[in-house]
Amino acid sequence: MSFLTLNIFRSFSSSSVMNLALKNVTVVGGGLMGSGIAQVAAQTGHNVTLVEVSQPLLDKATSNIKKSLERVAKKKFNDKAQDSEKFMKETLDRLKTTTSPSDSVKEADIVIEAIVENIKVKHDLFKALDQAAPKSTIFASNTSSLSIAEIASVTNRKDRFGGLHFFNPVPVMKLLEVIRTSETSDDTYNKMMEFGKELGKQTITCKDTPGFVVNRLLVPYMGEAVRMLERGDATARDIDIAMKLGAGYPMGPFELLDYVGLDTTLFILDGWHEKYPENPLFKPSEMLKKLVSEGKLGMKSGEGFYKHKK
Ligand SMILES: NC(=O)c1ccc[n+]([C@@H]2O[C@H](COP(=O)([O-])OP(=O)(O)OC[C@H]3O[C@@H](n4cnc5c(N)ncnc54)[C@H](O)[C@@H]3O)[C@@H](O)[C@H]2O)c1
Repeated sequence: MSFLTLNIFRSFSSSSVMNLALKNVTVVGGGLMGSGIAQVAAQTGHNVTLVEVSQPLLDKATSNIKKSLERVAKKKFNDKAQDSEKFMKETLDRLKTTTSPSDSVKEADIVIEAIVENIKVKHDLFKALDQAAPKSTIFASNTSSLSIAEIASVTNRKDRFGGLHFFNPVPVMKLLEVIRTSETSDDTYNKMMEFGKELGKQTITCKDTPGFVVNRLLVPYMGEAVRMLERGDATARDIDIAMKLGAGYPMGPFELLDYVGLDTTLFILDGWHEKYPENPLFKPSEMLKKLVSEGKLGMKSGEGFYKHKK
């Protein structure tokens, strides 16, 4: 845990008022990423409003957040039950939920969008939010593969729009990529960087380019690993062993593909290929397409390049 995070936790336990760069946070989308982002923001003293399309999905997100918080509390407070309960209660008290996107942004300092990776759905959402939110509210998208400027294009606040790209699982992964478009103002960028630090994340900055830093390097790497397999150069297992023991990577490319989801990787590659057809690094492979069409999506479907216990 960083010095900053530790201080944030300490400040809360003494219930002192904190001077946060962006205090009121709205997270839209309570799936895998959104619930993690909402949890971490509430844990670090922000007032969080989580938005989903239905009450059952909000209940599911809240239940996932509680389970994840219990794990954090167990690790943080060990067997100190009172401290643990206090931490859970204070964090959950800072978390509100709603199914109304327009109501959720009335007092928001920042909105983080973590809904489906579909430009049209994101545009519809941001158009509505742009009407409902105060002028000063910063908008951010957690998109993995779309252009931030393209998402922002439907709003009248392009200077108050940027990317905050978190990693899964959000409560565990330390990195936050902060993306500034050519129109993101210095003030917006500085506040997003400050906010990232308040969340206890290590921030890095990247321009609004496909995949930012991590996915721009990882996705073509996974694509090339699949092409190696297609050519019959080596088996998936041997390629994974090679990259773990030879390059010191914690997972091999096929283990990573199964973890991320073959459909997600193919979707990213397809999108980039359509936009940049001349770039050979973004060429989707036939093997990947075939596996996805057979429903072999990786860990989530029980089989990808490997078989998994469900
Ligand atoms: N999964 C990852 O590892 C990962 C990592 C970084 C970024 N991302 C990005 O984060 C975003 C979300 O990904 P995810 O994996 O959490 O997806 P997910 O499918 O787990 O969750 C998306 C949620 O958004 C909700 N939603 C859809 N439209 C909505 C709307 N208009 N208003 C409110 N909620 C809405 C859905 O009901 C769903 O629960 C995507 O843009 C993705 O590219 C994903």
